[in-house]
Amino acid sequence: MYLAALGMSVAFVACKSTPEKQTAEVSKQEKIKRGEYLVTTIGCGDCHTPKKMTPQGPVPDMERYLSGYNADNPLGEYDTTIAKSGRWVLFAGDLTAAAGPWGVSFAANLTPDGTGIGNWSLDNFRRALREGKYKGIASSRPLLPPMPWQNFAHLNDEDIESIYDYLQSIKPIKNLVPQAIPPKM
Ligand code: HEC
Repeated sequence: MYLAALGMSVAFVACKSTPEKQTAEVSKQEKIKRGEYLVTTIGCGDCHTPKKMTPQGPVPDMERYLSGYNADNPLGEYDTTIAKSGRWVLFAGDLTAAAGPWGVSFAANLTPDGTGIGNWSLDNFRRALREGKYKGIASSRPLLPPMPWQNFAHLNDEDIESIYDYLQSIKPIKNLVPQAIPPKM
């Protein structure tokens, strides 16, 4: 009797744990899918993915998907007077760097490499998007334009988590994006 009861409870535990585990895995996969959908439709890659220039304009370089400004490419000359005036904003040809009154900002590496967001917690990621904090650290500097975090601050928790899960699932790319350059006097 005792053994039978024990057997039943083991069977019960076995049955119980399997579907729960499956649900957890499915929901993780679903979150990653949702994150992919959000990243694609919001267009994070417009700024965060380097492009190859074609006669029709820039197309994403999927080899460097979401890896930010390519640190191996020299920035080149640009007209600081125009950038400083605020009347025009200058974008690098592949849209991963932008010069304006704030200086020059470089789109971040969003891949799960150590040079990207590989070591970021979900908390860091949420703070970057909600509060516009560099590296998602409360005491760090505000994120610069054109990162539209003020819009992303309205994403709900679930969507932010889905984007985070998706980004942690993509190919890690080693690319140490340069520090932002303060405005030239
Ligand atoms: C219009 C261009 C643009 C778009 C679109 C954009 N970003 Fe950014 N993002 C930037 C730039 C430029 C920076 C670097 C800002 C800085 O250095 O202060 C940045 C920084 C970040 C950072 C902070 C990285 C760090 O090291 O602190 C995160 C996280 C981020 N972006 C995520 C996203 C996500 C997720 C999306 C899409 C939902 C997105 N961005 C869309 C331009 C953009």
